[in-house]
Amino acid sequence: MSASTSRPLPARPPADDLPAGGSGAMFDHIAGRYDLLNRIISLGLDRRWRRQLVAALELKPGQRVLDLATGTADVVLEILRRQPRLEVVGLDPSPRMLAVARRKLARAGAAERVVLRRGRAEALPFEDASFDALSIAFGIRNVPDRPAALRQMARVVRPAGRVAILELGEPRVGVLTPLARWYVHRLVPAVGGWLSGAREYAYLEHSIAAFPPPGRFAELMARHGLEVLAVHALAFGACHLYVARPAAGVREEAR
Ligand SMILES: C[S@@+](CC[C@H](N)C(=O)[O-])C[C@H]1O[C@@H](n2cnc3c(N)ncnc32)[C@H](O)[C@@H]1O
Repeated sequence: MSASTSRPLPARPPADDLPAGGSGAMFDHIAGRYDLLNRIISLGLDRRWRRQLVAALELKPGQRVLDLATGTADVVLEILRRQPRLEVVGLDPSPRMLAVARRKLARAGAAERVVLRRGRAEALPFEDASFDALSIAFGIRNVPDRPAALRQMARVVRPAGRVAILELGEPRVGVLTPLARWYVHRLVPAVGGWLSGAREYAYLEHSIAAFPPPGRFAELMARHGLEVLAVHALAFGACHLYVARPAAGVREEAR
């Protein structure tokens, strides 16, 4: 998949029920270059990580899947590659990221199979237990109220369904830690800022460094309605894949 930069993005986001400047506002500025920057900054590893995320969902034909913080739909496309006979919903607050997603889905001939909705992970407009599986890649870091989002995930996924969360973090152990830190603190903001001309990549650096270490994030998941089944460290701990399911008896609290 490549960046969708050829056609102009809509000048103004369509009006809808979300407040202007919501938590996806920052991504509106970089939507056109997001895919290319992602590939460069992750050294191409982002695709492999998304494949691992989707594999963890253990998808079966006919299931209904929700991809939160869907952005430019890379996870949705990976889901459909792995299991074409699914109902997929992608949700994101950024109209411009969703505009890129729509174009990519149309190009892949998948537009009919996916519903894209504007919305935030903290307030999901879906019924309880209405999905078999839920994914969120590089999104939870950007969600202002993480506990609320985790409770919503536990609410909308059926009991025994799968929740898979992929997120970057600052590597804290191992011999490559100094190199990884240099990469996050020096190279990512420099390359991101240079290529996009945007301050958003300074935010990326800070948000990666500020994201809790895997043990603490897994505890947060457990406190907010998810039973953590596995935590996988990828690329020497630069990225983690958290696999979970709704914990028994939390559905009432999540409402
Ligand atoms: C780094 S991008 C990840 C996009 C995509 N999942 C991927 O794998 O490339 C983060 C996305 O999170 C979205 N986002 C920000 N705040 C959010 C929120 N409160 N709820 C859901 N998504 C949010 C942004 O609009 C952006 O599209």
